[in-house]
Amino acid sequence: MCSRDPHLQVSHGVPREITHRHTLLMRVSLFLFPLLLFVALSFSSFTVVRSDSPPDSIALTSLRTYLQLDTSQPRPHYRRAITFLRRLCRDAGIPHFEQFQFVRGRLGCVCTLPGRNRSLASVVLNSHIDVVPVEAAAWTVAPPFSAAVVNGSVYARGSQDMKTQGIQYVEALRRTLQAQPSPYLRTVHVLFVPDEEIGGKAGMGQVVQSTLWRDRLRPGVLIDECLPDERDGVYKLCYGERQPWWTVIRTRGAPGHGGTLPRDTAIQRIHAVMARISAFREAQREAVETGAQALGDVVGVNFVHIGSHGTDGAMNIIPGNAELRLDIRVPPHLNESAMYTLLEQWMGGPCHFHSSVAGRCLNGTFDIEFPHKVIAPYRESLDADAPGPYRALRTAAARQSARLDPIIFPMSTDSRYVRHRGIPAFGLTALDGVRSGPLLHQHNENVPLDAFERGIRLFQAVIDQLANDAEWRASVDTAPEDSSTATAHAEL
Ligand SMILES: *[C@@H]1O[C@H](CO)[C@@H](O)[C@H](O)[C@H]1NC(C)=O
Ligand SMILES: *[C@@H]1O[C@H](CO)[C@@H](O)[C@H](O)[C@H]1NC(C)=O
Ligand SMILES: *[C@@H]1O[C@H](CO)[C@@H](O)[C@H](O)[C@H]1NC(C)=O
Ligand SMILES: *[C@@H]1O[C@H](CO)[C@@H](O)[C@H](O)[C@H]1NC(C)=O
Ligand SMILES: [Zn+2]
Repeated sequence: MCSRDPHLQVSHGVPREITHRHTLLMRVSLFLFPLLLFVALSFSSFTVVRSDSPPDSIALTSLRTYLQLDTSQPRPHYRRAITFLRRLCRDAGIPHFEQFQFVRGRLGCVCTLPGRNRSLASVVLNSHIDVVPVEAAAWTVAPPFSAAVVNGSVYARGSQDMKTQGIQYVEALRRTLQAQPSPYLRTVHVLFVPDEEIGGKAGMGQVVQSTLWRDRLRPGVLIDECLPDERDGVYKLCYGERQPWWTVIRTRGAPGHGGTLPRDTAIQRIHAVMARISAFREAQREAVETGAQALGDVVGVNFVHIGSHGTDGAMNIIPGNAELRLDIRVPPHLNESAMYTLLEQWMGGPCHFHSSVAGRCLNGTFDIEFPHKVIAPYRESLDADAPGPYRALRTAAARQSARLDPIIFPMSTDSRYVRHRGIPAFGLTALDGVRSGPLLHQHNENVPLDAFERGIRLFQAVIDQLANDAEWRASVDTAPEDSSTATAHAEL
């Protein structure tokens, strides 16, 4: 597991070149060896670094400065972040900057590098500015907004989710712009949105309905977040995401004396439903645990609350009602009617869903309510033979001797707003070889610097491939937008 995927390394016609370089290298290395040793020793803090070099000081300074800005919910310092991002883009040589605010105080911005052909649909590189709250006392390695470098990793809230990606985008453009003043056919936008961590309503939910989106961004594809990968040379690519269905099941029955034995109490009815759900959940858990199925591909269900009200906790009254709350996560290959069928199995009888947010089962024995239900059954095409963003992404990865591992994101991201608009969105986290595994929303969240650096180079290749391939989605369709459905789905 410590080397990159061998079958993706280019092997044609290499031997002669290698031999040639090899002898040259041996001669040069006689002189260089003491120097290299010195360099290696002076970077000894990067002890776990594999063959790759650490990021340069500009990239590292940008990353640490961004991570040190506390943009944690519920009160992110957006204004400070925007000031930083404006300077970051300017220093990178990205000519245009625009700030936006659709809801008071919820600031975002976009940095734009115009392409050589303005009529082509653009490439949008998205990241969210906000991060989840921290429990500072639980950060045992370094404080959450210190961005301290410990053993070659930067420790900070937002290092994996997902400030590093925002810096990687800009850094990739900065490096490319140093070599070429006008490198791309398509316009490239780096988009920084607020409030993803609280559902994106005031952020991406607004952006996709705005004139900024339709007239200025004119996107052909959007790149967003996915998850880091533990393996070297493998990058997770999210091509869809599970849909949250928060579900409440309620039932009633006559209250009874605790000293009697009535046939059919409310809690016993709920218990029967729970037993069927538990059996189903156990099968899914096993499939995921044994690796037979990926988490993003199965229906996830968790009991988040069970209770009854009206008896004030009295120990001698059988409650006349019971309520069960479920957090269900629906993979995008299941449509609404398939899920209704599954719910009927769990309920043990037929249900009638009289609206998209409510239903009754077993002739009114149970009421079902969906306080939050997302319908986003989108999966991007993974056809590598057809022109499209996926082919461009695959080619970019191969250029870095890496490969992509396409998955369904188990939770939800801002990408659903974009897919809902008919624009392809791919989550690509350019972090490979992250041995800790995903640490999103966890204590001691950190990113290895060597992975950060490789990710910058991956994004250089990704942007180059996406923005210089005019074959896919040459123009932007400006179909009228139906805002009703967008707002209906505008939550976590
Ligand atoms: C820009 O791209 C469009 C769509 O592919 C093409 O029709 C047009 O000729 C291109 N313009 C230039 C100046 O290359
Ligand atoms: C850093 O490396 C040292 C030496 O290998 C080890 O003792 C320490 O636990 C590491 N710290 C972290 C936070 O990984
Ligand atoms: C839902 O999916 C099932 C197969 O999973 C299919 O038979 C059915 O036609 C679909 N329903 C709708 C409304 O698309
Ligand atoms: C629901 O009501 C119908 C007709 O009133 C009856 O035939 C059926 O058995 C009932 N089903 C259940 C689960 O009680
Ligand atoms: Zn995120």
